[in-house]
Amino acid sequence: MVQKSQLFLLLVFIIFSAIAAETENQDYVALLSLKNIWQNTPPSWVGPDPCGKGWEGIGCTNSRVTSIMLSTTGLTGPLSGDFELLSELQTLDLSYNKGLTGPIPRSIGNLKKLLNLILAGCSFSGPIPDTIGSLEQLLYLSLNSNYFSGHIPPSIGNLSNLLWLDLTDNQLNGPIPISDGITPGLDMLLNARHFHLGQNNLSGTIPPRLFSSEMVLIHVLLDGNQLTGSIPSTLGLVQALEVLRIDGNALSGLVPSNFNNLTNLNHMFLSNNKLTGPLPNLTGMIFLSYVDISNNTFDGSDAPPWFPTLQSLTTLIMENTQLQGQFPVALFSLPLLQTVVLKKNQLNGSLVIGTTHSNQLKLIDLQFNFISYLEEKEAYNGTLKLEDNPICGVTGNLSSYCTVSLSNASYSTQKVDCEPVPCSSNQISSPYCRCAYPYTGTLFFETLSFSDLGNNTYYNILEESLMHSFHSHQLPVDSVSLTLSNPITASSEYLEVKLKVFPYGQVSFNLTGISSIGFMLSNQTFKPPPLFGPFYFIGDKYEKYTESKKSSRSSIVIEVVVGGSILLLVILLAGVYVLHTKKRAERAIEHTSHFSQLDKSNNGGSVIKVKGVGWFSLKELEKYTNHFSIANEIGSGGYGKVYQGSLPTGQLIAIKRAKKESMQGGLEFKTEIELLSRVHHKNLVSLMGFCFEKGEQILVYEYVSNGSLKDSLSGKSRIRLDWMRRLRVALGAARGLAYLHEFANPPIIHRDIKSGNILLDESLNAKVSDFGLSKPIDDSEGSHVITQVKGTMGYVDPEYYMTHKLTEKSDVYSFGVVMLELLTARKPIEHGKYIVREVQETMDKTKDLFNHPEFLDPAIGLGTTLKGLKKFVDLAMRCVKELGSDRPMMVEVVKEIENIMELASVNPDVDSTSTSASYEETRKRSSLDPSYTYS
Ligand SMILES: *[C@@H]1O[C@H](CO)[C@@H](O)[C@H](O)[C@H]1NC(C)=O
Ligand SMILES: *[C@@H]1O[C@H](CO)[C@@H](O)[C@H](O)[C@H]1NC(C)=O
Ligand SMILES: *[C@@H]1O[C@H](CO)[C@@H](O)[C@H](O)[C@H]1NC(C)=O
Ligand SMILES: *[C@@H]1O[C@H](CO)[C@@H](O)[C@H](O)[C@H]1NC(C)=O
Ligand SMILES: *[C@@H]1O[C@H](CO)[C@@H](O)[C@H](O)[C@H]1NC(C)=O
Ligand SMILES: *[C@@H]1O[C@H](CO)[C@@H](O)[C@H](O)[C@H]1NC(C)=O
Repeated sequence: MVQKSQLFLLLVFIIFSAIAAETENQDYVALLSLKNIWQNTPPSWVGPDPCGKGWEGIGCTNSRVTSIMLSTTGLTGPLSGDFELLSELQTLDLSYNKGLTGPIPRSIGNLKKLLNLILAGCSFSGPIPDTIGSLEQLLYLSLNSNYFSGHIPPSIGNLSNLLWLDLTDNQLNGPIPISDGITPGLDMLLNARHFHLGQNNLSGTIPPRLFSSEMVLIHVLLDGNQLTGSIPSTLGLVQALEVLRIDGNALSGLVPSNFNNLTNLNHMFLSNNKLTGPLPNLTGMIFLSYVDISNNTFDGSDAPPWFPTLQSLTTLIMENTQLQGQFPVALFSLPLLQTVVLKKNQLNGSLVIGTTHSNQLKLIDLQFNFISYLEEKEAYNGTLKLEDNPICGVTGNLSSYCTVSLSNASYSTQKVDCEPVPCSSNQISSPYCRCAYPYTGTLFFETLSFSDLGNNTYYNILEESLMHSFHSHQLPVDSVSLTLSNPITASSEYLEVKLKVFPYGQVSFNLTGISSIGFMLSNQTFKPPPLFGPFYFIGDKYEKYTESKKSSRSSIVIEVVVGGSILLLVILLAGVYVLHTKKRAERAIEHTSHFSQLDKSNNGGSVIKVKGVGWFSLKELEKYTNHFSIANEIGSGGYGKVYQGSLPTGQLIAIKRAKKESMQGGLEFKTEIELLSRVHHKNLVSLMGFCFEKGEQILVYEYVSNGSLKDSLSGKSRIRLDWMRRLRVALGAARGLAYLHEFANPPIIHRDIKSGNILLDESLNAKVSDFGLSKPIDDSEGSHVITQVKGTMGYVDPEYYMTHKLTEKSDVYSFGVVMLELLTARKPIEHGKYIVREVQETMDKTKDLFNHPEFLDPAIGLGTTLKGLKKFVDLAMRCVKELGSDRPMMVEVVKEIENIMELASVNPDVDSTSTSASYEETRKRSSLDPSYTYS
């Protein structure tokens, strides 16, 4: 398995050596492997240069990847072994991606520069690899809220710089490791400020050697484990300690007598253990704010004398602690006191609530005691619970303090003086009544300095500090909203506060915003106000972000078969494959960029202007063509279909819509548009506009009403073309072509001259159309272009066909074929006979088509004198000469036809509409029918 992935690595490494630009190859390779393995990587992860080209979530220094910050981005998959190449990585924050699963690979130990390893709130499992101890620079290690199991690796003790160790809320078991001279242990973490090891299955004792006076720990959280034995007195040496949670274990024995040496302690949770002996002596712990020593088996005693010395105390929880005697009225003198829970004790006598009690006092819970008398010297506005005391008696005292009332503290950020607005689907109204997709999650406060959960002041302070923190980190946050989500029933529970963070100036955060907010909360960059103790945060999946990109995993999966002899072959194949892929990708990128450049025009904002040519939206064209209805279809072919449409002005247009298969690249399409936009001639169909949208390539032309010459000759269009009209059509088409050859700049070879591409307008003027195959000739290329042979069977210049040399003379050849069509109305190849050869052979024999009327189209007007016919035939035959050099130029052809028309005494420039008339065809028509009689 390891071998396999290393081989893959080697391959990719070799292959990409030449590709990456600003990013060190190995980093690129590592990121590619992650991209390959994960789903939902940022869509911006494209291109070969993560450092240079804005791969979101990737930070670089000197072309090396130094940070990966992808908190809350919906990543799914395992942490692959290949990321070990990121040898300069300092920050890896993948927090709150519930889809990340599997174990942390041992190779994590190779990231020697790592400072922050933050995998909080994912679904990683298995043991924490001991190689984690090789990350000697590590400052923050946050593996909380995963499914890690097994022991805490002793090697963590080697992380001598570690400030923050958070393994909370996993399934870790076994002892807390300490050093023994051979193996390291947590006692060596002399720089650590935080041991957050709560909510696991740790067992064994709290080793006395874990703590020493050299330690600088401020938070020791071991709550919710299965620790046994006594509290080590060495804990009293950790002078800096502010928060101690060792509640919810099975600790026994005496509380060490030096406990009150911990003068900085704010929060002390010893509850729910099996502690014995006298109540701990808390004398002099003047910063102590929150004390919970409930549910232990202390010796029965009177209220301790140290109560009144705890001047910072807000909360005293001593449920079931064997207290006896009178209620300690002295407690009421504490100025900040909010909550006193002394239930399930043996307090007796009277309760006197004096005049001096703290105005913040909100709860006095004395249930299950022996209080028999209550004296209220001043109105006490808080909750008093005396249920199951003699005062409530058996006869039923109906006083409120005798009925169990559940605390229903709640909080929810209020709207800021604005009209609530209804929001669509998943959007939520912000405190400022703006609909948006907030970043959401839950703050778990492991301790609090207050217990009056119903006082909004605390949450307002928290809101302010959150906003302050967001703004000082320049995050685009508009507002936050908090909601209390769990009514705490025991003081050992964490306070859960739902957090919603609303984006500023937009409806949703982008990936950078999301991962930055995630990082701020996962890395403990956010410091809550002192009222709130240590916390951890679990972000929810950010729906909006993950919705917007359904990126699937890359398809490059190279399964490498390990086998020495085929290694080379595999390398070669993979190399070819990847280079090929790269080229293809580059082409694709080029294509798309042109495409998108043109495509942009649909915003109306940045219309790509091709001079004289308009841009049409697909929507417009759908409207003009009745949604490209069949009724509007006026032609079809290999390229696609042509539709008739009408503009709102009533002007008719022809819309040529390319089939998917015949579409050109965006670049070619644009070239064609530019080419067509430069040709203006009355014998050329003019381009009015184009549409390049949603994968469509559509050209909009002027509408030419009388269809194609082909349709007329075949009788399809019911246009009758007599000899004079045919001459005019020939002349028109020749002039259009001559213009393309001589006057267009650069000259253009049409390449697809045929009767089907010569259209007739309402005055039967010829207009050459369909420049789809047209080729401009650049000067540099001389007078010909080497190209793949294209065109239509029967019209293609045989010389071009043989040599692939395309010149204007190829158009001349095709035009010659059209001239023969004008005479015969035959298709160039019909019944296996090639019109050019047929006419050629006949001419060779008789020198005159007149003797062979079966060759001529009856509709031409046989019976009239077809003046100039011979010259016309001669001209046609010169145009279809075998060698291009023997053919005339188009300008010569134009001159010749003009001469012929003079001969026929037709003014070539006078409209022939006056003589034009559609006629009803009454017979089945066949030019080959010898019995055909001419009228
Ligand atoms: C109490 O703390 C002081 C330092 O403030 C220390 O010198 C002393 O040894 C401690 N006492 C006990 C009993 O741990
Ligand atoms: C509690 O500690 C204080 C100060 O260390 C001391 O003066 C006092 O005697 C102790 N009380 C008990 C009951 O041990
Ligand atoms: C208790 O409530 C009364 C009126 O309901 C008020 O006058 C008094 O100031 C309140 N006392 C405290 C300590 O809040
Ligand atoms: C709420 O808490 C603040 C700060 O501790 C305090 O000043 C205020 O009096 C409290 N409000 C009530 C209604 O208890
Ligand atoms: C004490 O133990 C009881 C019974 O297990 C439990 O319901 C209660 O919440 C505990 N009290 C505290 C303060 O943890
Ligand atoms: C993300 O949003 C921030 C703030 O709105 C902006 O400065 C940044 O450019 C955005 N990043 C991306 C990649 O769009």
